Amino acid sequence: MAKKKLVVLTGAGISAESGIKTFRDSDGLWEGHDVMEVATPQGWAKNPALVLDFYNQRRAQLAEVEPNAAHFALKELEETFEVIIITQNVDDLHERAGSSNVLHLHGKLTQVRSVQNENKITEIAYKAINLGDTDENGVQLRPHVVWFGEAVPAIEEALPLCKAADVFVVVGTSMVVYPAASLIQYCQQDVPKFVVDPVRPEIPMGGLTFIEAKASVGMQTLKKELQKLA
Ligand code: APR
Repeated sequence: MAKKKLVVLTGAGISAESGIKTFRDSDGLWEGHDVMEVATPQGWAKNPALVLDFYNQRRAQLAEVEPNAAHFALKELEETFEVIIITQNVDDLHERAGSSNVLHLHGKLTQVRSVQNENKITEIAYKAINLGDTDENGVQLRPHVVWFGEAVPAIEEALPLCKAADVFVVVGTSMVVYPAASLIQYCQQDVPKFVVDPVRPEIPMGGLTFIEAKASVGMQTLKKELQKLA
């Protein structure tokens, strides 16, 4: 029999125990920076060197950290479910934990792209890019991440995945950034829905099962619950 489809929306909280800071746990500052300075098109226009340096630091940090028990739990769930991860995170910790089906809604730290063409993507792993680093046409490169105020093209791919989910799980996201936060609304009504987070996010719908715990612990509780549904 085909495995049931387990669709998992993850956010910064799942990587917190790996040592990557979440966004909203630090007063609008992100690793000491004003988000508007480093993660908006306006910030880029004002000071691209600062933005590149910020992401160079994020990439260097990513090279130093490891996936945690929550990432590995999602990989292990592939034994019993068809697991589809939709992540808001730009880190690669799901992939490094071995998960085989990961959609990045907000891009990836390990990729850069031409400022003129969002489809011209280059893999750079954990290397730095600087002003003057260009594609083959001499166009400046920028991080392949979605900044505030930019479109989220991957949402089109995410919607049908949510509609087809047999079980839906939310892990470590404050559910305040759209369109990602709206994805849960596209699940069928009778689909079991779980939320793993030490702080209950506000989600405007009923029928949710909350597991109020850090991801590493909460995912173990969730795994037991999911065994009943496999
Ligand atoms: N385990 C699970 N959840 C945790 C943990 C943990 N150890 N620590 C914190 N959290 C939870 C917080 O309670 C919060 O609900 O993780 C969530 C983090 O929320 P945000 O910082 O808002 O991160 P996220 O929801 O991923 O942000 C969405 O906003 O800044 C943009 O593009 C960026 O993708 C990001 C998007």
